[in-house]
Amino acid sequence: MTPLLTVDVHVAPDARRTALEADVRAGLTAQPKTLPPIWFYDERGSQLFDEITRLPEYYLTRAERSILDRHAREIVDVSGADTLVELGSGTSEKTRLLLDAMAGRGRLRRFVPFDCSEEILRVAAKDITDAYGVEVGAVVGDFHRHLGEIPRHGRRLVAFLGSTIGNLTPVERRRFFTDLDVTMGHDDRLLLGTDLVKDRSRLVAAYDDAAGVTAEFNRNVLRVLNAELGAHFDPSAFDHVARWDEANRWMEMRLRSRHRQVVEIEQLAMHVAFETGEELHTEISAKFTHGQVEQELWDGGFVVERTWTDPAGDFLLTLARPYC
Ligand code: SAH
Ligand code: TRP
Repeated sequence: MTPLLTVDVHVAPDARRTALEADVRAGLTAQPKTLPPIWFYDERGSQLFDEITRLPEYYLTRAERSILDRHAREIVDVSGADTLVELGSGTSEKTRLLLDAMAGRGRLRRFVPFDCSEEILRVAAKDITDAYGVEVGAVVGDFHRHLGEIPRHGRRLVAFLGSTIGNLTPVERRRFFTDLDVTMGHDDRLLLGTDLVKDRSRLVAAYDDAAGVTAEFNRNVLRVLNAELGAHFDPSAFDHVARWDEANRWMEMRLRSRHRQVVEIEQLAMHVAFETGEELHTEISAKFTHGQVEQELWDGGFVVERTWTDPAGDFLLTLARPYC
C-alpha cells in the first residue's frame, strides 16, 4: 500500500541555519535594521498567528472564509482541478472549504500543502489525511526559493490565501508571480487572496489588537533569534509598532527599542547596538485595489478569470490562469 501522507523537506536544518545567519547578519547591519518575515513562524509563531486569525479586530480571515463559504464550489468548478496545492498553508483551516467542494464533486485526488514551518505543516497534513482519506504530499520549503520543487502532476489549483502575498515587497511579488508562472501548466489555476485598501483605523486595529497578540507575534522573531542563534534579546525592551503607510498602501510592522542597548548574538559573534526609539523593520502587509491585483498578475504572466469579494467588500479572491 502506498502511504497516504508524505512530507518532503527542502529546507534541511543546515540550509535553514545558513539562511537565518545570512538574513540576520545582513538585516541587523543594514540601515534601517530589518528582518525578513519568514523567521516569525517557528512553532510558537505559528500558534500566535493562529490566535491572530480569531481576534475581533482581525477581519481578514473571517472575510476570506465567508467568500469560500459562498463560492468554493464555483471556484472548484471553474478551475476544473483535481489537485489542490496551497502555498503558505499554515493550519489549512479555511482550505477545508475548498477540499470539501472538490470532494463533493468527486474529484479530489491530492492535496499539496507547502509551508516553511515544518511543525505546523506536519500537524495540518496529518489532520487532513485523517479527515479526508486523501493523498497528501506536504512540502517544507521557502516560496522565494522552492516553488520549482512542487510536484506537477494532476490538474492543479494553486491557492495562496490569507493575503500572504501582501507580506512580500512589490519587487518580491513580481518575482514570485513570474517564478510561479513558470511552474504552471495550461490547465493549472491560481487562487489568490488579497486584502483590499480600506479605512485606516480598521487596518491599524487589525495589526495592533487590544489583547496584544499581534505585538507578541511581532516580538516572537526576537525569541527565534534567541533560541536559534544564542541571541540575548529582551523582547519586553521593544514596543510593537503598526503604522499605515499611505504612499505605499501597506501596513508596516516594526519593533521599537525602548532604550539604548547593545544585544549580543553569541553564535554570530555579533553585537548589535540600538538607539532609544530606533526601529527594527519586521514586516509589511500591503493592501490592494482590484485593478492593482489584475495588473500585478498580468505582469507576472497571469490573466484574471473570475473574482469574488465578501459582502462588505473587504477582501478579494481572484482566480487566474497563465496566459502563455
Ligand atoms: N494560509 C494561512 C496562513 C497564513 S500566515 C491563512 O490564510 O490563514 C502565512 C503562512 O506562510 C505561515 O503559515 C508561514 O509559516 C508561511 N510562510 C511565511 N513565509 C514563508 C516562506 N518564505 N515560504 C513558505 N512559507 C512561508
Ligand atoms: N498575511 C498576514 C497579514 O498580512 C500576516 C500577518 C497578520 C502579520 N498579522 C501580522 C504579519 C502581524 C506581521 C505582523 O495580515
